[in-house]
Amino acid sequence: MTVNQVHGIPRPGRSPEADPSTLSNYANFQITSTNLNFVINFTSKTVSGDVTFQLTAVASTESIVLDTSYLDVHAVSVNDVAQEFTIGERTGALGSPLVISRACAVDEEISVHLVFVTTSRCTALQFLEKSATDGKKFPYLFSQSEAIHSRSLFPCFDTPALKSPYTMSVTSSLPAVMSGLPQGDGENTETVGEKVYRFTQPVPIPSYLVALASGDIQKLPVGPRSHVYCESPNLKRCQHEFDGDVEKFLEAAEKIVFGYEWKQYDVLILPTAFPYGGMEVPNVTFATPTIVTGDKSNVDVVAHELAHSWAGNLVTNCSWEHFWLNEGWCVYLERRILAEVHGDAVRDFMAIIGWYDLANAIKAMGESATRFSCLVQDLKDGSDPDDAFSVVPYEKGSTLLYYIETLLGKQKFDPFIPFYFNKFKYKSLDTYQFLDTLYDFFSDDHEVLDQINWDSWLYAPGMPPVKPDFDTTLADQCYQLAARWHTAIVEGAKFTELFSLDDLKVLDGNQSVVFLETLIAFNKQDGFVWAHHRDALEALDEIYGPKYSHETNAEVLSRWYFLQVGGHNHKFYEKLGRWLGTVGRMKFVRPGYVTLNKVDHDMAVKYFLEFESGYHPICQAMVRKDLAL
Ligand code: BES
Ligand code: ZN
Repeated sequence: MTVNQVHGIPRPGRSPEADPSTLSNYANFQITSTNLNFVINFTSKTVSGDVTFQLTAVASTESIVLDTSYLDVHAVSVNDVAQEFTIGERTGALGSPLVISRACAVDEEISVHLVFVTTSRCTALQFLEKSATDGKKFPYLFSQSEAIHSRSLFPCFDTPALKSPYTMSVTSSLPAVMSGLPQGDGENTETVGEKVYRFTQPVPIPSYLVALASGDIQKLPVGPRSHVYCESPNLKRCQHEFDGDVEKFLEAAEKIVFGYEWKQYDVLILPTAFPYGGMEVPNVTFATPTIVTGDKSNVDVVAHELAHSWAGNLVTNCSWEHFWLNEGWCVYLERRILAEVHGDAVRDFMAIIGWYDLANAIKAMGESATRFSCLVQDLKDGSDPDDAFSVVPYEKGSTLLYYIETLLGKQKFDPFIPFYFNKFKYKSLDTYQFLDTLYDFFSDDHEVLDQINWDSWLYAPGMPPVKPDFDTTLADQCYQLAARWHTAIVEGAKFTELFSLDDLKVLDGNQSVVFLETLIAFNKQDGFVWAHHRDALEALDEIYGPKYSHETNAEVLSRWYFLQVGGHNHKFYEKLGRWLGTVGRMKFVRPGYVTLNKVDHDMAVKYFLEFESGYHPICQAMVRKDLAL
């Protein structure tokens, strides 16, 4: 019996389901290996290169179709014979298909070689001027390809459904890293001052994991199989932040799943403009500099990216419609790692934060929640996967796995984790294969699994149908302090008699986030409006300002500003505006401008225009939308 017959869940005729976000004919091929060579030109702000795919046709086909986007392709050859090709019309975010009219018979092995150069419209690259780096002495380049930006960096089958091992190189006047294991320290080239840096990636990876960065990058060890890379002036500070913790996380993950297969696990701290918290580039996680706080309070981001070494990088979603298999599983593992290192209460505390993040995000979606708050996405109309991106796959996905774990019992569920990751390693799968594997593995427990309202979990918009019983110990301390403030404000009590800086002694960074979020959430509940309680905001500043106004933890500092500015405390408008010039992570930049915009549109626009050139192109576009520019 298949799961769909038991539950009446509609599913496609074949699994893994076809990827609607590629224009390539990837389903006709397997890739045996890929050789990819980049040359960085910091003056023209382009990357040129060539790529060779060793392909085996798994179905006969009249042509080879690859993805490109705003990319100049100069030459194509198949088995060393020059080949005609055409670049088709652009189809929105999906880009332009590159069609090579070369028939392939089943089982035929061919080698396809392409020569290309990126254009100024490349969405995967950000070139930074010297002034936008920390050291201010050298330019910098980084790439960010997830979900479908690889096609603007090199012609490829840009789908997570197809994987290949790689050999890679990048020629640059500055040190460079790529998504693989470095081979030596860089060889001199004929061009003065340039070196070629070589990498291998023996584990098959999809195109979206290919990445490069180059700048004044140096590394120091932070564990037996780990380094931190960053701009040279920051080396000591970054080493201190991560020293020891990375290995702890790796060992915890290995206990939960199985041995780390990629050998080396390094972290690259990027310049401010990096738009995400982190990106799971194989062997070298790319991370925002906001996690280098000086007190290790944000190293948990590393637990997430490292968990992708299993969830996402070894076992991959077959299309962006099944993105929760990457991110939901990853958050689930991340919190299991945190439980190993910091205890179960921390795991549940993070899950509670996630639950409220999810509720806030779905509320903020408005009308579009009908579509974007479903766990399994529908991108068959050619929509941009970036538009469907939200916390839903992260939090609904991880909550589903948590719920399955609690229904079966942790003891029973745990062996499923290595089984699943082993079964699908080096492969890409859809939600239905996950379900079948779950039902097969727990063949004696179908009654338990059938309690799960799959239809609702997978396809219904809104919050999950069930909220698991989370341990609220750590969250309660935050709620209680917030509730005391609420009462004091409503009753008009004297704040300095009731509260002191010591209140914060028992709260760690994440708890401060929850405390501040709870305060923010009082707004417009039961007639409470922060803007009517400016005295309370002033008192909060007087009592807690000595700590919160000097926060190095951006998670805390951002909420502190959002509370004060959201409550119309003018004193904080300029502070928030200026702070937005020091961060590039979209998680902070976007709500920052939105908050400022609500109280002072002109000031929000003024600061945005001042800092815009320092933001990543994707971030620029998002904030422009947010501010209706
Ligand atoms: N893979 C994501 C980042 C991503 C997703 C980039 C989709 C582009 C498109 C990464 O693993 C991630 O989830 N990063 C989070 C941090 C994490 C601690 C939840 C982020 O950037 O906020
Ligand atoms: Zn992730």
